[in-house]
Amino acid sequence: MSVFLLFVSFGIVYLVQFFVKKILLWSKLPPGPWGVPLLGSVPFLGGGPLHLKLDSLRKKHGDVFTVGVFHKEVVVLSDWESVRDFFGRLDFSGRPDALLFRQVALGNNGIVSSQGSLWQENRRFTLRVLRDFGLGKREALDSMIQDAALGLCRSLRARRHEPQDFGPHLNLAVLNVIWKMTADKQFAHDDPRMQDFMDRVLEVLNDSSLLGPIQWVPAFVYLWPPALKAYRRVNRNMAAISQIFLNEVEEHKRNLPSSGGSKDYIDAYLTEMALQKSRGEVNPNFTEFQLRVNISDLFIAGSESTATAIRWSVLFLLCHPDVQEKLQAEVDSVVGHDRLPSLHDRNRFERDGGWHPS
Ligand code: HEM
Repeated sequence: MSVFLLFVSFGIVYLVQFFVKKILLWSKLPPGPWGVPLLGSVPFLGGGPLHLKLDSLRKKHGDVFTVGVFHKEVVVLSDWESVRDFFGRLDFSGRPDALLFRQVALGNNGIVSSQGSLWQENRRFTLRVLRDFGLGKREALDSMIQDAALGLCRSLRARRHEPQDFGPHLNLAVLNVIWKMTADKQFAHDDPRMQDFMDRVLEVLNDSSLLGPIQWVPAFVYLWPPALKAYRRVNRNMAAISQIFLNEVEEHKRNLPSSGGSKDYIDAYLTEMALQKSRGEVNPNFTEFQLRVNISDLFIAGSESTATAIRWSVLFLLCHPDVQEKLQAEVDSVVGHDRLPSLHDRNRFERDGGWHPS
């Protein structure tokens, strides 16, 4: 048989298999666009912001729809009820074996990329420790946030006569709160170590957005030079970030208080490991390696998300000075001028009092 015939035969078999799979799979999945063999709906998603494309698909196919991304079927949830419903079900807590998970969490490890008992135990433990900071030790969390906010205000005020980019200052403030919670550390805004750490975290997040859509077909990374660059940069940055966390864990091990009384997340995790060991338990879900991935998850998941939410709020207030005035008046009446706002004030603010433009 000639090579040409062989290609045609493979082509026909592939196409038949593609359409049979589509018909069988799609009879069980939510509706969505058909797409083309090998690429799925990818050719129709490019050119323009992805969220707008997905929104137009939502209008056509409903709030829950399926999109083919290369050889994977991706179900998109675009309304609050479905997101809450699906993410509350254990059946949907699985994580795929994706390129970015392999790079950032060295596989299905930590909290964000893990699943099953590894995810459940580490997530539960982390939530409990962070909740202790938030509720049991509300004053501790209060002073972490107040210190970071004061540092932010000081650095903005120091150069108040020149235009400045609010973003990097805010990122540093948020990272400082996470550093304080995880390792009881805080850095000055002009500390080069902090600047280097922040640049690396932000670069990982930026590169992740670029690699995100092609992570299901890792071979594509080698075919598109910007993706290859981003892939190598993520590896380099994650290695440097992991080394910082490794040093931090080693330092905490040397200074771990023998009488308990953890001052931060790393202490709490190491203490839990020691407790399990003293009970003779061998728990592969609680290891120094998992601890390092957990810390990395807290930084990667907690930094840009929080800073972006605050940046949008500030932009919203800039665009709606009337709302800003209402909010300022409320802060003045609830907090006054003699102290800083605290978590205790939270319930004293009207939930949605000032947030509607008039
Ligand atoms: C306004 C700020 C934040 C927003 C909008 C946000 C949003 C989200 C979303 C949508 C998810 C689910 C992602 C998924 O399952 O694929 C998530 C998960 C997560 N977030 Fe946040 N987050 C914020 C702040 C934080 C902070 C401050 C931390 C910790 C310091 C954090 C740590 C995590 C972790 C560890 C997960 C994974 C949870 C799991 O898989 O069970 N986030 N976040």
